[in-house]
Amino acid sequence: MNISIIGTGYVGLVTGVCLAKKGHNVICVDKIQSIVNSINSGIAPIFEKHLEDLLLEVIGDKLKTTTDIRYAVENTEVSIIAVGTPFSEGKIDLEYVKKVAYDIGMILKEKKDYHVVCVKSTVIPTTTDTVVLNILEVVSGKKLGEFGLVMNPEFLREGNAVEDFMNPDRIIIGTMDDKSFDVFSRIYKEYFDAPIVKTNPRTAEMIKYTSNALLATLISFSNEIAAISEETGDIDALEVLEGVHMDKRLSVNLGGKQMKPDIIKYLKPSRGFGGSCFPKDVKSLINFSERLGYTPRMLKSVIEVNNSQTERLINLLKEKIGEINGKTISILGLSFKSGTDDVRESMAINLIKRLVEEGALIKCYDPIAVENAKRELKNLSNIQYFDIYKGALVNADATVIMTDWDVISNIDYDEFRKLTNDPVIIDGCRIFDKKEAQYNDIKYIGIGYRKK
Ligand code: UDX
Repeated sequence: MNISIIGTGYVGLVTGVCLAKKGHNVICVDKIQSIVNSINSGIAPIFEKHLEDLLLEVIGDKLKTTTDIRYAVENTEVSIIAVGTPFSEGKIDLEYVKKVAYDIGMILKEKKDYHVVCVKSTVIPTTTDTVVLNILEVVSGKKLGEFGLVMNPEFLREGNAVEDFMNPDRIIIGTMDDKSFDVFSRIYKEYFDAPIVKTNPRTAEMIKYTSNALLATLISFSNEIAAISEETGDIDALEVLEGVHMDKRLSVNLGGKQMKPDIIKYLKPSRGFGGSCFPKDVKSLINFSERLGYTPRMLKSVIEVNNSQTERLINLLKEKIGEINGKTISILGLSFKSGTDDVRESMAINLIKRLVEEGALIKCYDPIAVENAKRELKNLSNIQYFDIYKGALVNADATVIMTDWDVISNIDYDEFRKLTNDPVIIDGCRIFDKKEAQYNDIKYIGIGYRKK
């Protein structure tokens, strides 16, 4: 199929490259010439595992990139809107989605062939069937039916986006008419081995928000159990939740072997969630719900619990080292999770800001996210950055683990003892074994466990 994709950010570019790899003819559009040039020369402007290798395979053949949206829409049957929806003042900003819908509407006005428009950007329920449909109809002077419209959310984890796109667990297509669905689903049918769910656009939008809200809820739920366990003392929430995982409704028994589905990884005490999706999606859903007149009490608590994780970590630190003022604190891990250099809404960044406020000297390390962290923290002093972990450990009065990178979990206990001033570890990711750390003379606290 001939497909155009508007927006070459993390979702748009992954979608474009993967659909081209599957054999479709794809034209990606971006308004920034330097991004277009970079993609056309085989350089991915974002860091995503396997993306550049695939890009090099398809660029100039199955995939082209241009700034010319008219050329792209006129020469394809389907246009996928994959522009950003930045978060501002408690809700998502639809400015870019609206602008692209307007531009496509102008082109559809003159285009003779049937064309399907797809919204892939994460948008709150009712956006596709009210805002986007309205713009397309008014600007093109045509009615739905003369052109098609679908909502097709993405479920791509950063760091695993290519793998997630190529091996989807579900393909959700929200549509108001059969013709849109029939044409659009040809992108996936026979190319991907996953169930295709046909629904209406607002349900498709809601499935995306609900999926992320559920995962964020599991993390905050685990952290609430962690807080209660810490307050009680001598209960390790990690052990508690591992006991819960064994429920046969959570770990399926296959031929005598317990299979642990990925979802239970979110049922674990941690420093909390971050990234460009969970915080933004949950807050947007809260805002949307409140505007409808319903107060989403649970979702509000999910954010509240997550926000309180930074103070909980600081309290654990104070318990071990007393006053923070004048202390050197090593922060290991800056990205919001391992496998990415993204520091947006990273809990490590929040923690560093608070520790600097308390008068600490920060020595922080990340294997790939240092440059992004520097930009995020540029107005703060008293921070030293390292891309080799040893540097961040030298003379530290305490070390806080904030990202579950393998390189961090492989650090030898001897190194902590030799390099630091005091071998205190506050493990915000529970990547070290509590008993082993204590046996090796580490003053260890894992979030979710406190001795009383
Ligand atoms: C998420 C969804 O998983 C994906 O399906 C969606 O389409 C986009 O949003 P992403 O933000 O890349 O993807 O990250 P994810 O791996 O789900 O992690 C989100 C946050 O939860 C991170 O802060 C991460 O550290 C935290 N997390 C994740 C945990 O605390 N524990 C886990 O086991 C997994």
